[in-house]
Amino acid sequence: MSKYELNTATSRANPTPQPLRRLTVPKIRARKQDGVTAQPVVMLTAYTARQAQLLDEHCDILLVGDSLGQVIYGLPSTIPVTLEMMANHAAAVVRGSYHSVVVVDMPFGSYEASPGKAFESAAYLLKASGAAAVKLEGGEAMAPTVEFLINRGIPVMGHVGLTPQAVNVLGGYAARGRGDAEAGKIVGDAKALCTAGAFAIVVEGVIEPIAIAVTEAVDCPIIGIGASAKCDGQVLVTDDMVGMFERVPRFVKRYEEVAPMIASAAKRYAEEVRARTFPGPDQTYQPD
Ligand code: KIV
Repeated sequence: MSKYELNTATSRANPTPQPLRRLTVPKIRARKQDGVTAQPVVMLTAYTARQAQLLDEHCDILLVGDSLGQVIYGLPSTIPVTLEMMANHAAAVVRGSYHSVVVVDMPFGSYEASPGKAFESAAYLLKASGAAAVKLEGGEAMAPTVEFLINRGIPVMGHVGLTPQAVNVLGGYAARGRGDAEAGKIVGDAKALCTAGAFAIVVEGVIEPIAIAVTEAVDCPIIGIGASAKCDGQVLVTDDMVGMFERVPRFVKRYEEVAPMIASAAKRYAEEVRARTFPGPDQTYQPD
């Protein structure tokens, strides 16, 4: 039996009955109190309604990451991802979830030029999808934009350290923070975003002491990926975590091996089609 119980009571603030009450951005922000996060934030990427349905009850946040460019569309990086792609996948994830906060990535080129451009893009994403918040990459330089969005009703999650949209500047996806200057900049970036009002910040691909330093230095929850178990929460790309790819970064733990299961199902199906043993009696309709 489903654990969801449909609450049919409506109000003007809640005109469409929902099985569950969703977590909210302020509740995620409040997980970290006086530098302590008793209940770590669980975040996974989701790109489709079905994926969202399977992940929802286990997560606090579903991130519609621009990693969908590589994972779903086979693109070489996140750079070509468009606002329309993000809006469509975010809408599917909202439709497939009732519990988690849905956060949608702002794609490259949709927010960097000015706070006004960022507002237009973020407002479009939230209107088109029903997601609750946006995530954007970049540190101190993006702080005024973060503040501008928040003051206009758009919650923002930050993203510092290894920022994949900057791959052409960084020259690759290697872990960041190995030199003193870069380490100091990553901590400064996170502090600036938090002061600007970001409700949480992803810290990606940094050496562990920097991940810990950022987590200790910043008031809002720090969500690590390739960072440290001592962060206030963790995120992984779901398709990496379930074993959809042969090769994954070393910070990924594969909790299942789904790719061989799909390949094996396709192989057996193809064999049965070629042998004319599928469809069998159970899968065909006969006259009454
Ligand atoms: O796009 C994405 O999936 C992300 C996560 C890796 C944090 O930004």
